[in-house]
Amino acid sequence: MLRPTYPIETERLLLRPFSEGDLEGLYAYQSLSEVARFLYWEPRNLDESRSFLQQKMSASTVEKEGDWLVLAVVWRESGALAGEVNLQWRSREHRQGEIGYILNPAFHGRGIATEAAAVVLRLGFEGLGLHRMVGRLDGRNAASARVLERLGMRREAHLLQNEIVKGEWTDEVVYAMLEHEWAARAAKGAGR
Ligand SMILES: CC(C)(COP(=O)(O)OP(=O)(O)OC[C@H]1O[C@@H](n2cnc3c(N)ncnc32)[C@H](O)[C@@H]1OP(=O)(O)O)[C@@H](O)C(=O)NCCC(=O)NCCS
Repeated sequence: MLRPTYPIETERLLLRPFSEGDLEGLYAYQSLSEVARFLYWEPRNLDESRSFLQQKMSASTVEKEGDWLVLAVVWRESGALAGEVNLQWRSREHRQGEIGYILNPAFHGRGIATEAAAVVLRLGFEGLGLHRMVGRLDGRNAASARVLERLGMRREAHLLQNEIVKGEWTDEVVYAMLEHEWAARAAKGAGR
C-alpha cells in the first residue's frame, strides 16, 4: 500500500496527482509524434487526452498489485506541467515494480526526468518495500536509457525483436535496481 502525502517537492519540481486543470498541458505532449515515437501508443487527440486524464487522476495511490501511481511533474519556477512519472506495482509476492516517465519536449535537457524518476524509485523501495525495480524501453530510445543510467540502474537485458510495436519488430532493453543498490545510493544522498 502506498499513499504518498502530496505535493512531493524536490529541488526544482513538485510532484502531485493529475487534476482537471492539467488537460491542456497533458494534451500538449500527448499529441506529439516525437513523444509517442518509442511508446506503445500513437499521438492522441484532445478527446483521447481527456479520457486518459481521468485515468491518471485516479492513480494517486497504490493499493494492490497491478496498480499504477501516476504523478504530474510540475516545474516549480513557472508552475507549468512538464510531464509525468509513474510507478507500477508489478508483483506483491516477488516485490517487483516498474518506473516510467514522459516529458514535454519543451522541458527536455534539464535533468527533470531524472529528478522526478528518483522520487518514484524512492517511493517504490522505501514506501512499497520493493526488492527490485525495472525500467523497460525501446532499444532505440537512447535518451531514456541515459535517464536510467543517471539513476544508477543496471542494464540487464537487451531482448532482440521480442515484440511488434507499431507494425515493426522492436528490441526491448531492461534496466534494473535492487533494494540494496538503492540503499547504498540513498546513503550517499541520491534520490532525496
Ligand atoms: C525519456 C525522456 C524523458 C528523457 O528526457 P531528457 O530531457 O533527456 O532527460 P532528463 O530530464 O533526465 O535530462 C537529462 C539531460 O539534461 C541534461 N541536463 C541539463 N541540466 C541538467 C541537470 N541539472 N541535471 C541533470 N541533467 C541535466 C543532461 O546532460 C541530459 O542530457 P543528455 O542526455 O543529452 O546528456 C524524454 O526523451 C521523453 O519524454 N521522451 C518521450 C517519452 C519516452 O520515450 N519516455 C520513456 C519511455 S521508456
